[in-house]
Amino acid sequence: MKKVMKITGLVLSGVVLLLVGFCAYVAAVGVPTYDPPVVPRITVERTPARITRGEVIAQIQCMECHANNDNRLTGKYLAEVPPLFGKLYSKNITQDVEKGIGKWTDGELIYFLRTGVRKDGTYAPVMPQYPNMADEDLKSVVAWLRSDRFPVQATNQEAPPSELSFVSKLLTHTLMKPIAYPEQAIRFPDSTSQIALGKYTADAIGDCFACHSGDMLDQDKSHTERTKGYYGGGIEMVGEDGKPIVTANLTFDEETGIARKYTKEQFIRAVKGGVRPDGSILRSPMAPKPMLSDREVGAIFEYLKTVPKIRNDIAKKSAEIQLARK
Ligand code: HEC
Ligand code: HEC
Repeated sequence: MKKVMKITGLVLSGVVLLLVGFCAYVAAVGVPTYDPPVVPRITVERTPARITRGEVIAQIQCMECHANNDNRLTGKYLAEVPPLFGKLYSKNITQDVEKGIGKWTDGELIYFLRTGVRKDGTYAPVMPQYPNMADEDLKSVVAWLRSDRFPVQATNQEAPPSELSFVSKLLTHTLMKPIAYPEQAIRFPDSTSQIALGKYTADAIGDCFACHSGDMLDQDKSHTERTKGYYGGGIEMVGEDGKPIVTANLTFDEETGIARKYTKEQFIRAVKGGVRPDGSILRSPMAPKPMLSDREVGAIFEYLKTVPKIRNDIAKKSAEIQLARK
């Protein structure tokens, strides 16, 4: 018996030592760096159609995190990130050659947007990766970044560097990792299928699943539908008033989902205009998306009907969180 205890004790202290060692390693190394990648050689032609489409995607994605009060992409403090993860700032992605991305090639940008890795092998945590965006849409984003539109014109303002917490650093050794660059072309979804368009718009363009699933970090970005609690909501975020705000359950669960509350038209109005059927306003960080077409948002509604239902009572969860804070 004593021997067993001794061995267990030894094993346990071994595990503790390993853990301490790992934590010390994480603290010392910070965010891991990868081998400098071979970036694709792509030159994106800047057609007006691409710039227009790129602007739609940029307004949903890039502007949300990179645009300052003056609407330029100078980088900013990301206030909606819970303090547990540290103080996070995005970067200047204007055409400025010093502070912005003026020196990046089109291929470097596309590689980075797909994988999260820069040409020198450094990895950008928090910056989303876009593994499922169609090649053509990604090119549109690049065309827009190079365009004559106001937000991307060179400015040398910049945000301070991010101060990642230990938790965030630890995450970059576990859950937050680069995504492999795709080996095959990524095409648009079947344009005749509303459901395919809905999934693409929700998961690849709107990133709706990233906020409306079960966990902010433990997500499958490549196979989004495998994400834990997919569209069941319940992620706690920080609202504009600094108070916690919980994301909605967008599945069609009869009791706790949004289905019983919305018609398709009401859903389109809520997502594009930010107003619920009862007239209440959707709060930040749920940003209205007027740049999406009725067809695209209607398609999201149709797609959500096909997503496995999840019972998750957000109103209850929200009330519990408020109570715990008091
Ligand atoms: C959820 C917030 C968020 C969104 C959305 C976002 N970014 Fe970022 N981005 C960041 C953060 C944070 C960093 C800095 C990461 C770091 O410190 O390494 C960053 C870094 C970058 C960089 C690297 C800049 C440099 O100098 O190293 C580029 C390029 C970039 N983003 C482009 C984009 C584009 C284009 C889009 C839209 C398709 C976009 N980002 C959307 C948060 C975001
Ligand atoms: C940055 C995170 C984030 C993203 C991205 C996001 N949402 Fe939300 N969403 C929220 C939050 C938080 C709420 C709760 C808002 C509130 O309670 O006022 C919400 C609420 C909603 C609601 C209202 C549900 C209700 O309570 O009646 C709908 C509908 C919705 N989101 C749809 C979408 C769709 C569709 C997309 C993608 C196009 C999307 N959301 C993207 C965070 C997000």
